[in-house]
Amino acid sequence: MAAVTIRGLTKRYGDVTVVDELDLDVAEGEFLTLLGPSGCGKTTTLRCVAGLERPDGGEIRIGGRVIVSSAGGQFVPPEKRDAGMVFQSYALWPHMTVHNNVAYPLRMRRRSKAEIPGLVRAALAMVGLDHLAGRSVSALSGGQQQRVALARALVAQPSLLLFDEPLSNLDAKLRTTMRTELHALHKRVGTTSIYVTHDQIEALTLSDRIVVMHEGKIHQVGTPEEIYTHPADRFVADFIGFENFLTATVVDTSGAAAVVQADGFPSVLVARGGSAAHRAGDRVTLTVRANTITLLAPADGPAHAIPAEVTAVAYLGDQVEYLLAVGPHALKVRMATPTGQALPRWKEGDRVVAVIQQEALLVVGSPAPAPSPQRS
Ligand SMILES: Nc1ncnc2c1ncn2[C@@H]1O[C@H](COP(=O)(O)OP(=O)(O)O)[C@@H](O)[C@H]1O
Ligand SMILES: [Mg+2]
Repeated sequence: MAAVTIRGLTKRYGDVTVVDELDLDVAEGEFLTLLGPSGCGKTTTLRCVAGLERPDGGEIRIGGRVIVSSAGGQFVPPEKRDAGMVFQSYALWPHMTVHNNVAYPLRMRRRSKAEIPGLVRAALAMVGLDHLAGRSVSALSGGQQQRVALARALVAQPSLLLFDEPLSNLDAKLRTTMRTELHALHKRVGTTSIYVTHDQIEALTLSDRIVVMHEGKIHQVGTPEEIYTHPADRFVADFIGFENFLTATVVDTSGAAAVVQADGFPSVLVARGGSAAHRAGDRVTLTVRANTITLLAPADGPAHAIPAEVTAVAYLGDQVEYLLAVGPHALKVRMATPTGQALPRWKEGDRVVAVIQQEALLVVGSPAPAPSPQRS
C-alpha cells in the first residue's frame, strides 16, 4: 500500500491543456475515483501516474518516492512504479492462456520461476477463475476476460492499483455484479486504488472519496455522500444528477441558511449553502433534486407551498415524473407511485402545489454571465 501525492500535474496536447495544474492526495489504502464527463482528463491523469504519459509539468510521488518530476527531470519507467493497471479494453494477449497472461507482469519483474505458479493461482482465486488457468483467453466471455485483467493487475501484489473504466464494456447486469466484487475485493485486499469512471453510480458505490473533474481541473473532492448532497458548484450538481436549476435573488443571509427569491415564484424560499458566500441582492443559482419535491392538491398544501401547473407527465412504473411551470422555470418532480395506484395522480393542465423538502434546496454559485466558450 502506498499514498500518492500529485502536485501541479499538467499535460498538454499541442496548445490544449488537458490536465491543468492538478493537486491531489490519495491516502494509503484509499479507494479514490476520478469522475467526470468524457474528455475531462481522467485517463490522462491516470496514465501520468502509471508512467504511460510524460507530464509537461508537476510532480507525482508514490509512497513518498518521486516517480516523475518535470522540474527535477525524473521519470521512473512504468514497470518500476509498483502499480497494477486495469484497462477498459482488457488489453490481454489473445494467443496466450489465462495463466500466461496473469504471469506476464511477474516475468517482466523477473520474479523467480518457482514462485510464479503460486502467485498466479492466488490471483486467479481472488477473481474466481482458478479453474480456467489453462484456457486461451480468446475462449472466455467479456466478463471473464475482465477478471483475467484484474488478476493480472493484482498478481505482483502492487502497492497501487489503477483502473480506467474497467466495467464500461460489460453489459448492465454483469457491470453491477463486477462492481460489487470489486468493492469486496478492495475491502479484503486494501490496496490504494485510483479508479477512473464517467459513471456516477460506480463512483458513489465504490469510492472512499470522489474527485469530480471538468476540463482538466478539479471541481470538488469529497466522500460520496458529500458529493451527492453538497455539490460545490453547478457543474458538480448537474453531473451528479440534480435536475432543477433556478435563478434567484438573495433576500437575507443573516441566518444559517439563505432566504432567496426564485424568479417568478410567489414567495421566498430557504436555501442551504448561500449564507457565507453571498449577501442580500446577489444573483444566485439554486438547485434541487426532482425526488425531493412533493406535489399536493392546492387545498391540501401548507402556506409555503408553491402554486404550479402540470405541463407534462411521464409514467415510469414505480415512479411518475411531472414537469411543472412556475414563473419562467420548468420544475421537474419525481414521486413514487403509491402502492395500489398505478396511474399518475395528476395530468397535463392540472393546478397543483409543490413542496420542497427541508434542506433540499441548495445555492450553487452565481448564474454564469455568459455561456462558457465551447472547447473542441
Ligand atoms: N494522445 C493524445 N493526443 C491528443 N489529444 C489527446 C490525446 N489523449 C487524449 N487527448 C485529449 O485530451 C483530452 C482528455 O482526454 P482523456 O484524458 O482521455 O479524457 P477522459 O479520460 O476524461 O475521457 C481529450 O480532449 C482528448 O481528446
Ligand atoms: Mg478516459
